[in-house]
Amino acid sequence: METFDVLVIGGGPAGYVAAIRAAQLGFRVACVDAFTRDGKASLGGTCLNVGCIPSKAMLDSSEKYEMLQHDFADHGITVQGASVDLGKMLSRKAGVVDKLTGGIAYLFKKNKVTSFHGYGQFVRQDGDAWVVDAAGTEVKAKHVIVATGSNPRALPLAPFGGHVVENSGALAFEQVPTKLGVIGAGVIGLELGSVWRRLGAQVTVLEALPGFLMAADDAVAKEALKQFQKQGLEFHFGVNISKVEQSDGGVSVTYTEKEQEVTVTFDKLIVSIGRVPNTDGLGADSVGLALDERGFVKVDSHYRTNLPGVYAIGDVIGGAMLAHKAEEEGVALAEMLAGQAGHVNYDVIPWVIYTSPEIAWAGLTEKQAKAQGLQVKTGQFPFSANGRALGHGDPRGFVKVVADAQTDRLIGVHMVGGNVSELIAEVVAIMEFGGSSEDLARTIHAHPTLSEVVKEAALAADKRALHM
Ligand code: NAI
Repeated sequence: METFDVLVIGGGPAGYVAAIRAAQLGFRVACVDAFTRDGKASLGGTCLNVGCIPSKAMLDSSEKYEMLQHDFADHGITVQGASVDLGKMLSRKAGVVDKLTGGIAYLFKKNKVTSFHGYGQFVRQDGDAWVVDAAGTEVKAKHVIVATGSNPRALPLAPFGGHVVENSGALAFEQVPTKLGVIGAGVIGLELGSVWRRLGAQVTVLEALPGFLMAADDAVAKEALKQFQKQGLEFHFGVNISKVEQSDGGVSVTYTEKEQEVTVTFDKLIVSIGRVPNTDGLGADSVGLALDERGFVKVDSHYRTNLPGVYAIGDVIGGAMLAHKAEEEGVALAEMLAGQAGHVNYDVIPWVIYTSPEIAWAGLTEKQAKAQGLQVKTGQFPFSANGRALGHGDPRGFVKVVADAQTDRLIGVHMVGGNVSELIAEVVAIMEFGGSSEDLARTIHAHPTLSEVVKEAALAADKRALHM
């Protein structure tokens, strides 16, 4: 039986990064990764195959089409007869995915990580090691890392199938739906709703909560909602879905909004109401791996499960279901196994929603900070007063800085606007070092760049913005 120091179950951002880092640290490593739903051996998990990467490819393609229709004329460029070849767009997306998933296979080879394709299932404990069935081959490993990710949460009234799809189905419609329903105004609903609206669908988003993006800063959520409504996305908040019925031609959804019952028929329905942990096929029960009441693998601060030598990281342990959080856990755990001080700073995780305008934040919102009893000062600066944003032709949105009123420490930074997914990085770096709004304000930012808005927002927190 082949023996490894570390066996990783799951080849998504948590698992593949843990495998590479462990191999870098001198461990003999293997990774077993389930086939994708369409039966492919394709490393990278949800993120690379049916999540972050393909959705961004479609967001970029659809945004180019939207700009061509609505924005180019302002720049003096007119184009006639623009059309969408959806097949080509989808195959470009598939090409981006293949390139990146192939890249992980290359990195595994380079780092001498042995790769198995299929389910990994606990078989038995053997001394201080574990025997695991890695896709039909029994292997032995001293350390086993469970990084099996998550699956889309289904609405009990509307199981996935037919016209009711989750993220992977919503990335592969063969034609643009005329009427598209989206249940859940979260990250997936907003991103994929945006893609299909730009390509011509009439999109209606049904959200259970009474307000929009309630995890984001109020001012950011308000501005984003205004922009999305202007683009034609239709939102209904505080709805209660009571019936979903499929027919050959589509799917009808009955919901209650302000005590009124409404039924709407869509060609397709995306259900994006969160994700649930995935422990399918792992044999968790047979070895007594402890899960919490929601099915997440229970871990301590060192990612140790209740079983000696068995660890878990990524979506399957809960917390922020983000690829970058999962990757950091992979690195930290591999370093801990090597006797180093692996660490993840959960207080400074960047959040990004890749709509147009984009939304990004790190740290606490003003409301959260106040609820914690902190005294805060804030500074806000609009992209409409920034030369580069005007040059781009995109003056929407702003940056808002929240700092401690007494110490000036940065507590949170919130952005809505063009390219803010890239602008959030500097804020995260400064917050990681415990920096202040003055640190941000005194850092030289290249001119003309969008990043000057971040600097000006920090200056505004001290009531000394220069260009407003
Ligand atoms: P989400 O948690 O972002 O949003 C789900 C939304 O559905 C919430 O607003 C919730 O109130 C609503 N909801 C729940 N039950 C409902 C019901 N019965 N009727 C109507 N609305 C209901 O989840 P989402 O969008 O499915 O994304 C799943 C995960 O994937 C998230 O944890 C997210 O962080 C991650 N993700 C991250 C991305 C990014 O970082 N850009 C992109 C896509 C996904």
